[in-house]
Amino acid sequence: MDMKPKILVMAVMGAAMWGGLVLSAQAGKTTAEPVYTAAQAARGEAVYTKNCIECHLRDLTGGNPEAAPAPALTGKEFTSYWNGKNVSEVWDAIRMTMPKSDPGTITPEQSADILAYIISYNKGPAGSTELPPQADVLKTIKFKF
Ligand code: HEC
Repeated sequence: MDMKPKILVMAVMGAAMWGGLVLSAQAGKTTAEPVYTAAQAARGEAVYTKNCIECHLRDLTGGNPEAAPAPALTGKEFTSYWNGKNVSEVWDAIRMTMPKSDPGTITPEQSADILAYIISYNKGPAGSTELPPQADVLKTIKFKF
Protein backbone atom coordinates (compact mmCIF):
# COMPACT_ATOMS: atom_id res chain seq x y z
CA MET A 1 0.00 0.00 0.00
CA ASP A 2 1.34 3.43 -0.94
CA MET A 3 1.23 5.79 2.03
CA LYS A 4 2.38 8.91 0.24
CA PRO A 5 -1.01 10.37 -0.78
CA LYS A 6 -2.31 9.83 2.74
CA ILE A 7 0.66 11.61 4.28
CA LEU A 8 0.24 14.48 1.81
CA VAL A 9 -3.45 14.83 2.68
CA MET A 10 -2.64 14.83 6.39
CA ALA A 11 0.06 17.47 5.87
CA VAL A 12 -2.35 19.71 3.95
CA MET A 13 -5.05 19.28 6.59
CA GLY A 14 -2.52 20.01 9.31
CA ALA A 15 -1.44 23.21 7.59
CA ALA A 16 -5.05 24.29 7.12
CA MET A 17 -5.82 23.66 10.78
CA TRP A 18 -2.68 25.50 11.85
CA GLY A 19 -3.69 28.45 9.66
CA GLY A 20 -7.12 28.49 11.27
CA LEU A 21 -5.60 28.42 14.73
CA VAL A 22 -3.28 31.30 13.96
CA LEU A 23 -6.12 33.35 12.50
CA SER A 24 -8.32 32.90 15.54
CA ALA A 25 -5.67 32.67 18.26
CA GLN A 26 -7.25 35.62 20.07
CA ALA A 27 -10.85 35.04 19.04
CA GLY A 28 -13.22 35.12 21.99
CA LYS A 29 -10.56 36.42 24.38
CA THR A 30 -10.57 39.52 26.58
CA THR A 31 -7.83 42.11 27.09
CA ALA A 32 -7.16 40.51 30.48
CA GLU A 33 -5.48 37.79 28.40
CA PRO A 34 -2.51 38.36 26.05
CA VAL A 35 -3.96 39.61 22.73
CA TYR A 36 -1.10 41.80 21.41
CA THR A 37 2.71 41.86 21.47
CA ALA A 38 5.08 44.30 23.19
CA ALA A 39 6.67 45.15 19.82
CA GLN A 40 3.24 46.01 18.41
CA ALA A 41 2.45 48.30 21.36
CA ALA A 42 5.81 50.03 20.85
CA ARG A 43 4.92 50.69 17.19
CA GLY A 44 1.55 51.98 18.34
CA GLU A 45 3.17 54.31 20.85
CA ALA A 46 5.25 55.86 18.06
CA VAL A 47 2.17 56.50 15.88
CA TYR A 48 0.25 57.78 18.91
CA THR A 49 3.05 60.17 19.90
CA LYS A 50 3.15 61.60 16.38
CA ASN A 51 -0.61 61.93 15.78
CA CYS A 52 -2.56 61.94 19.01
CA ILE A 53 -0.79 63.61 21.94
CA GLU A 54 -1.80 67.04 20.69
CA CYS A 55 -5.31 66.35 22.04
CA HIS A 56 -5.22 63.11 24.10
CA LEU A 57 -1.89 64.05 25.73
CA ARG A 58 1.22 61.96 26.27
CA ASP A 59 -0.19 60.29 29.39
CA LEU A 60 -3.50 59.50 27.58
CA THR A 61 -5.53 61.58 30.03
CA GLY A 62 -7.03 63.70 27.24
CA GLY A 63 -8.82 66.96 27.75
CA ASN A 64 -6.14 69.30 26.41
CA PRO A 65 -7.96 72.58 27.01
CA GLU A 66 -6.03 74.18 24.14
CA ALA A 67 -7.58 71.74 21.66
CA ALA A 68 -10.99 70.11 21.21
CA PRO A 69 -11.74 68.38 24.55
CA ALA A 70 -10.55 64.87 23.77
CA PRO A 71 -11.66 62.05 26.09
CA ALA A 72 -9.13 60.17 28.22
CA LEU A 73 -7.90 56.83 26.85
CA THR A 74 -6.96 55.61 30.31
CA GLY A 75 -8.32 55.95 33.84
CA LYS A 76 -11.58 54.96 35.46
CA GLU A 77 -13.88 56.80 33.09
CA PHE A 78 -12.31 55.13 30.06
CA THR A 79 -12.04 51.64 31.56
CA SER A 80 -15.53 51.57 33.06
CA TYR A 81 -17.08 52.83 29.82
CA TRP A 82 -15.27 50.28 27.63
CA ASN A 83 -15.39 47.26 29.96
CA GLY A 84 -17.25 44.42 28.17
CA LYS A 85 -17.36 46.25 24.82
CA ASN A 86 -15.63 44.95 21.69
CA VAL A 87 -12.13 46.24 20.96
CA SER A 88 -13.23 46.57 17.33
CA GLU A 89 -15.21 49.67 18.33
CA VAL A 90 -12.06 51.55 19.37
CA TRP A 91 -10.20 50.18 16.33
CA ASP A 92 -12.99 51.54 14.10
CA ALA A 93 -13.10 54.88 15.95
CA ILE A 94 -9.37 55.40 15.50
CA ARG A 95 -9.09 54.44 11.83
CA MET A 96 -12.33 56.14 10.77
CA THR A 97 -12.58 59.27 12.94
CA MET A 98 -9.10 60.02 14.33
CA PRO A 99 -7.06 62.14 14.41
CA LYS A 100 -10.04 64.45 14.79
CA SER A 101 -8.11 67.10 12.87
CA ASP A 102 -7.26 64.73 9.96
CA PRO A 103 -9.47 61.60 9.94
CA GLY A 104 -8.83 58.69 7.57
CA THR A 105 -5.03 59.01 7.71
CA ILE A 106 -4.46 56.12 10.13
CA THR A 107 -4.21 52.71 8.40
CA PRO A 108 -6.01 49.60 9.76
CA GLU A 109 -2.57 48.24 10.79
CA GLN A 110 -1.64 51.47 12.62
CA SER A 111 -5.03 51.50 14.32
CA ALA A 112 -4.44 47.94 15.60
CA ASP A 113 -0.97 49.01 16.80
CA ILE A 114 -2.41 52.03 18.67
CA LEU A 115 -5.14 49.79 20.13
CA ALA A 116 -2.35 47.48 21.39
CA TYR A 117 -0.63 50.51 22.94
CA ILE A 118 -3.86 51.64 24.64
CA ILE A 119 -4.42 48.11 26.04
CA SER A 120 -0.82 47.97 27.25
CA TYR A 121 -1.08 51.44 28.82
CA ASN A 122 -4.14 50.19 30.70
CA LYS A 123 -2.17 47.17 31.98
CA GLY A 124 -3.46 44.45 29.65
CA PRO A 125 -0.79 41.73 29.37
CA ALA A 126 1.36 41.33 26.21
CA GLY A 127 1.77 37.96 24.52
CA SER A 128 3.33 36.39 21.44
CA THR A 129 0.63 37.07 18.83
CA GLU A 130 -0.13 40.48 17.35
CA LEU A 131 -3.61 41.95 17.40
CA PRO A 132 -4.61 41.51 13.74
CA PRO A 133 -6.09 44.45 11.79
CA GLN A 134 -9.13 42.29 10.98
CA ALA A 135 -12.67 43.25 11.91
CA ASP A 136 -13.88 39.64 12.15
CA VAL A 137 -11.28 38.80 14.81
CA LEU A 138 -11.39 42.14 16.67
CA LYS A 139 -15.19 41.86 16.97
CA THR A 140 -14.74 38.76 19.14
CA ILE A 141 -12.30 40.36 21.62
CA LYS A 142 -13.70 42.30 24.58
CA PHE A 143 -12.14 44.91 26.85
CA LYS A 144 -11.66 43.66 30.39
CA PHE A 145 -9.80 45.89 32.83
C1 HEC B 1 -7.53 67.50 17.27
C2 HEC B 1 -7.74 66.74 18.49
C3 HEC B 1 -7.64 65.22 18.42
C4 HEC B 1 -6.61 64.46 17.90
C5 HEC B 1 -5.33 64.93 17.23
C6 HEC B 1 -6.97 63.08 18.13
N1 HEC B 1 -8.18 63.00 18.77
FE1 HEC B 1 -9.14 61.30 19.39
N2 HEC B 1 -10.73 62.39 19.98
C7 HEC B 1 -10.83 63.77 19.95
C8 HEC B 1 -12.17 64.17 20.35
C9 HEC B 1 -12.65 65.62 20.46
C10 HEC B 1 -12.88 62.99 20.63
C11 HEC B 1 -14.35 62.86 21.10
C12 HEC B 1 -15.19 62.23 20.02
C13 HEC B 1 -15.30 63.10 18.81
O1 HEC B 1 -15.46 64.32 18.94
O2 HEC B 1 -15.19 62.55 17.70
C14 HEC B 1 -11.95 61.89 20.40
C15 HEC B 1 -12.27 60.55 20.59
C16 HEC B 1 -11.36 59.51 20.50
C17 HEC B 1 -11.64 58.14 20.84
C18 HEC B 1 -12.94 57.60 21.38
C19 HEC B 1 -12.79 57.57 22.88
C20 HEC B 1 -14.02 57.19 23.63
O3 HEC B 1 -13.88 56.80 24.81
O4 HEC B 1 -15.12 57.27 23.07
C21 HEC B 1 -10.50 57.43 20.62
C22 HEC B 1 -10.27 55.95 20.86
C23 HEC B 1 -9.51 58.36 20.11
N3 HEC B 1 -10.07 59.62 20.04
C24 HEC B 1 -8.24 58.02 19.74
C25 HEC B 1 -7.37 58.89 19.08
C26 HEC B 1 -6.13 58.46 18.48
C27 HEC B 1 -5.56 57.07 18.56
C28 HEC B 1 -5.57 59.56 17.89
C29 HEC B 1 -4.31 59.64 17.06
C30 HEC B 1 -4.28 58.78 15.89
C31 HEC B 1 -6.46 60.68 18.14
N4 HEC B 1 -7.54 60.22 18.84
C32 HEC B 1 -6.21 61.98 17.75
C33 HEC B 1 -9.81 64.65 19.59
C34 HEC B 1 -8.62 64.29 18.96
